[in-house]
Amino acid sequence: MSDVTIQVRDNGPYVVRGSFVVTDAEGNQFEKKDVVALCRCGHSATKPFCDGAHNREGFSSTPRAGQS
Ligand code: FES
Repeated sequence: MSDVTIQVRDNGPYVVRGSFVVTDAEGNQFEKKDVVALCRCGHSATKPFCDGAHNREGFSSTPRAGQS
């Protein structure tokens, strides 16, 4: 089992838990946290992190593992 899990939230962000770092394209590290929510809808004003805009924008996506 991995030390890091990424949960795809229904109609919302990717929630990442564990020991990891998030970097920008130049390799600079964002503040380290044990849990982060990464924007999946593209509407956040604080990318790469979720700011709740998915609710306002009516983002809809409910993928399930094992279904394609
Ligand atoms: S997923 Fe929450 S603002 Fe994009």
